[in-house]
Amino acid sequence: MTRMPMPKRKTQCKKSSNFLFSTLLLEWFDQYGRKNLPWQQNITPYRVWVSEIMLQQTQVTTVIPYFEKFIHSFPDVQTLANAAIDNVLHLWTGLGYYARARNLHKTAKIISNDLAGRFPADLAGLMALPGIGRSTAGAILSIAFQSSTPILDGNVKRVLSRYHAVDGHYSDKTIENQLWQLATQHTPQERARDYTQAIMDLGATICTRSKPNCAHCPIQGCCIAFNNNATNVYPVTKKKAILPIKEAIFLIFLTAQGKTLLEKRNNFGIWGGLWGFPEVSKDQEWIKECERQHNFKVASLQEGAKFRHTFSHYHLDIVPYYIQVENIRTILRENDTYQWCDPKQLPQIGLAAPVKKLLKSLC
Ligand code: ADE
Repeated sequence: MTRMPMPKRKTQCKKSSNFLFSTLLLEWFDQYGRKNLPWQQNITPYRVWVSEIMLQQTQVTTVIPYFEKFIHSFPDVQTLANAAIDNVLHLWTGLGYYARARNLHKTAKIISNDLAGRFPADLAGLMALPGIGRSTAGAILSIAFQSSTPILDGNVKRVLSRYHAVDGHYSDKTIENQLWQLATQHTPQERARDYTQAIMDLGATICTRSKPNCAHCPIQGCCIAFNNNATNVYPVTKKKAILPIKEAIFLIFLTAQGKTLLEKRNNFGIWGGLWGFPEVSKDQEWIKECERQHNFKVASLQEGAKFRHTFSHYHLDIVPYYIQVENIRTILRENDTYQWCDPKQLPQIGLAAPVKKLLKSLC
């Protein structure tokens, strides 16, 4: 997209201080900001931390029911630390980015076992914990501890990029540093919690990616993008990469009793630690291999309809194969990696969304 030359900012905006930015934002927040989100009640570092991890890359409306169930099951950091990872992943099923749940569990153990159950109240201490980056640490410090610490999540990046007409993409380190500098300048000493919530709310509800509602924006007066009719130019975007397509075959073994075999994935990769159907890639001679290894007979095999599951960086085309098996007594003994499940009575384990969908279809 061609960018228009930016005229000099209006004189009154030269004087616009960081104080004005935060004051206007806080006035707007007092009137219109979100104040009834579940994690805004009974604020503790634990609740704020859980919510901030869930809110990474996930929208508020999606997070709310997950947060409520999670807090109900694990009301404090000790309970979470003592929980089995399968139970934690179970409550994360459908939320995606499962590394977040694994890191949450690891961090709970560290806080519980090494830090006497207390969250660090400083940036370095928080950032040393698994899954907590600078922005999440900033959000925890400002929201839970009322400390004046900046955040820079996607919403804040967009607001600041437009307000200051930042000329470059976030993935460029120089631009990211510039945005951190701006975020730091604007964060007030007072009302850190409200300011953090206010700037996120502004990004989520007014300064949206497409069709921002500038008419109702409290800081439009000095927003360079708005004053130059260039809100569509900022934030500078990168050309969207075309996502590669991968294919996987899910083996849905079915016994005469209606049970199906689930396999626990190792702890790495996109669905690390979750349970799923045994998976093979396209050209494997997997039937012969299964029959040989596990001494069972495939009584019938039916190929199901292919469907697509899209991750942030690739499409996965999934082909389910429905396989009626005989000789169940000799098929894969259950252990930590395999279990025969009744799809109508699933245990409390983590399941990837397409696996859950297929299991439901078996009921
Ligand atoms: N995104 C990240 N943190 C958030 C919060 N505390 N409220 C709303 N959206 C958010």
